[in-house]
Amino acid sequence: RRKIILDCDPGQDDAIAILLAGRHPRLELLGITVVAGNQTLDKTLKNALHVTQHLGLEVPVYAGASRPLVRETQATAGEIHGESGLDGPVFAPLAKKAEEQHGVWYLIETLMASQGDITLVSCGPMTNIALAMRLEPKITSKIKELVFMGGAYGLGNVTPAAEFNFYCDPESARIVLNSGCPMTMMGLDLTAQALCTWETVQRMKKASNKAAELFCDTMSFYLEREGKQYGMQGGPLHDPACIAYLIDPACIKTKPMYVQVDTVQGMNYGRSVCDYYEVMKKKPNVNVAVTLDAPRFWDLVENGIRLYDEE
Ligand code: BDR
Ligand code: CA
Repeated sequence: RRKIILDCDPGQDDAIAILLAGRHPRLELLGITVVAGNQTLDKTLKNALHVTQHLGLEVPVYAGASRPLVRETQATAGEIHGESGLDGPVFAPLAKKAEEQHGVWYLIETLMASQGDITLVSCGPMTNIALAMRLEPKITSKIKELVFMGGAYGLGNVTPAAEFNFYCDPESARIVLNSGCPMTMMGLDLTAQALCTWETVQRMKKASNKAAELFCDTMSFYLEREGKQYGMQGGPLHDPACIAYLIDPACIKTKPMYVQVDTVQGMNYGRSVCDYYEVMKKKPNVNVAVTLDAPRFWDLVENGIRLYDEE
């Protein structure tokens, strides 16, 4: 089983990433750290607790950074994910509590105590991870791999140039991308191939368990917003691509590239510049996902939902 820590900002698609990671026999979800992103930290934390409680996952949840590393908060995504950050599902009252320890210290202590066998998954702005790397630089050699959703070699989704997670905290993304740890990137180029449609919702509904319920309630809301905003045939299921890659790497093709994040304030602020054609002749620092086997991905999502069948 591959040990993972999931850093996220739920978020409808983050919720599905938790769902897929929480029960899969190939993964061991050690902990969830939460960051401000899709909504403010109080909301994303509450959402992470609701999702894990709803799914009956006993994983500990830690609150992390409430604002970007350097600049003031410049974006949340209420227009996509709703006022709560996870509009759609109606959850039972919240009994589950967050751990006392700060998420960044949890990351540092857990990684430092490990044998270098923990994979970090990042599905939100990279503030917690950058902070952890600055507080304890030795963690970079302890990270087995960092699999993240963020950036794009093509177009942005929050500005013409930048993807949301990178735009929320470009300085953190830059620190992490320059850290030297092994990295795999699920950018918008890849997640645009993971389009959730109303047919997908109908398909998952048939599983009729609590995971299917969560999937359908979150995606029904998300499809109205994310799907419509970009004129796509559906809503890209961004964050779960990271988990799919860990469960079944063969469903995603990657290409090593040199990637840098633009932190100069201007039109390209937060853009991930990816040297696709290797014109810079620089050593690649990121394995960038390029092609998704979509039918295989959706089978994986359905199987992930059906793992919650027995309860
Ligand atoms: C990313 O931004 C968030 O809104 C999603 O949860 C995903 O992590 C996509 O740009
Ligand atoms: Ca996210």
